[in-house]
Amino acid sequence: MNSAATTTSEWWRNGVVYQVYVRSFADGNGDGTGDVTGLRSKLDYLRDLGVNALWINPWYSSPLRDGGYDVADYRTIDERFGTTEEVELFIAEAHERDIKVIADLVPNHTSSDHRWFQEALAAGPGSPERARYVFKDGKGANGELPPTDWTAVFGGSAWEQVEDGQWYLHLFDPSQPDLNWENEEVRAEFDDVFRFWLDRGIDGFRIDVAHGLVKDTTFPDVGKVGKILESETTENHPFWDRDGVHEINRRWRSVLDEYDDRMMVAEAWVAAHRLPLYLRPDEYHQSFNFDLLATDWNAAEFAAVIDKSVTAADEIGASSTWVLSNHDVMRHATRYGLDAGIPWRQWPMTGPVEALDVERGARRARAAALVTLSLPGSTYIYQGEELGLPEVWDLPEDVLEDPTWFRSDFTEKGRDGCRVPIPWERSGDSFGFGSGGAWLPQPETFGDLSAEAQLDDPASCLALYRSAIAIRSEHLAEEGGFALDSSFGDEVLAYRRGEVLVVVNMGASPVALPAEAKVLLASSPISGSDLEQDTAVWLVP
Ligand code: BGC
Repeated sequence: MNSAATTTSEWWRNGVVYQVYVRSFADGNGDGTGDVTGLRSKLDYLRDLGVNALWINPWYSSPLRDGGYDVADYRTIDERFGTTEEVELFIAEAHERDIKVIADLVPNHTSSDHRWFQEALAAGPGSPERARYVFKDGKGANGELPPTDWTAVFGGSAWEQVEDGQWYLHLFDPSQPDLNWENEEVRAEFDDVFRFWLDRGIDGFRIDVAHGLVKDTTFPDVGKVGKILESETTENHPFWDRDGVHEINRRWRSVLDEYDDRMMVAEAWVAAHRLPLYLRPDEYHQSFNFDLLATDWNAAEFAAVIDKSVTAADEIGASSTWVLSNHDVMRHATRYGLDAGIPWRQWPMTGPVEALDVERGARRARAAALVTLSLPGSTYIYQGEELGLPEVWDLPEDVLEDPTWFRSDFTEKGRDGCRVPIPWERSGDSFGFGSGGAWLPQPETFGDLSAEAQLDDPASCLALYRSAIAIRSEHLAEEGGFALDSSFGDEVLAYRRGEVLVVVNMGASPVALPAEAKVLLASSPISGSDLEQDTAVWLVP
């Protein structure tokens, strides 16, 4: 720590960040659940892939009712994942390989198992223990109705009644009570949690639901409330994107600035014109940009979203972030195999299997990698996307764990299909995930998609990612230098990044490439001078 003069290399501005859903990454102790031992054993794989940083989904002590986004103790690692000492070792080993580590912090809510919430239940109405959360009396003659009409992201009312008749707020699952960020004790506690992990060498934080901490304390009804993944926020929504969050952002930033070279990235699903507010110089270093993730496979739409994002970032001196998949959405290798217009977030529930073209999805996913890895800014990769893993949309209902499944009365399958454990080996129990099976069943197709099956195959998706990341650091590391190129027509996305020309054929017919250009990398084999459908290429003069 160095509080006088901190230094910063701004490594996050154009890094490749690899997201690890630790529960599903690699299992070191054979209990069917991924852990820090497993993660440590894969550090060389990650170094060879070429990533600059890892973002680790929550690994804290938790009943895992929402995959760890229900934290029971922010200062201990869940025993299924490892120990604090082991995490310290892991951070040191990552640093030895020049890889930074970003932890995930969940400040909007705790688990209902958290000591504070148990104390709040025991202490009763009006107590300081209850004031750490959002408890209220209900409406109706006897307080039998919820205090407002607010609905939870996972479905149903956002209020749950406790034995003495009061209600508490949970914007997500009832097992995730919202903290009261009006309370100074809550604010001070998180300053301390930040310092706890920064002192252990963590390089940054991904802040969960960064736009949800502050609520309208007059508790108005809202009528129809937008869901978090739909970015339906308005400027005066009672709990999304309220102006009060910026004061909290600034407080955290000043804690981070006591240390050298640390960062924080916001998960903020807010309207595009509000996002720059989170990126002011004394707030977040970065925020996820989910616009490309929500865009259909269409050259004009891709070009518009990319251009808008790059311009918006430039205007405020921020760096863009590119995301195609994460642990909350259908994997893009499957999304791109569906027809445009199919509601991609809900589709895998019971959906029409015949609508899915697996091969087309895989081909487009490879091309999309050459887009996100060549754009200015930082690129986030979700574990397994480098293997071209698809969504496991047909998981049997009896293995589903996502609260969405239960809270939607078994109509929305939820997010388990993108969280299926990684196949490391071609065959065997759990395809090398661990010696004790895998907590979610893997499909047979995972064998051929395993890291082992791809490692020595120069035509594999893994080889493509490795080459792309290596070439990126050599030819595309400079910031800026982005310009769209419309000379290939409406069905082709093309842009220049410095000396590199990126061309992606998103239309149905082959496209002629410039005669003298040299191919640096292509997402699918190129024969002759034409670029086939759903193929991307990086060219140099
Ligand atoms: C996380 C989800 C989680 C939710 C509640 C999100 O934005 O990414 O996985 O369920 O926050 O913590």
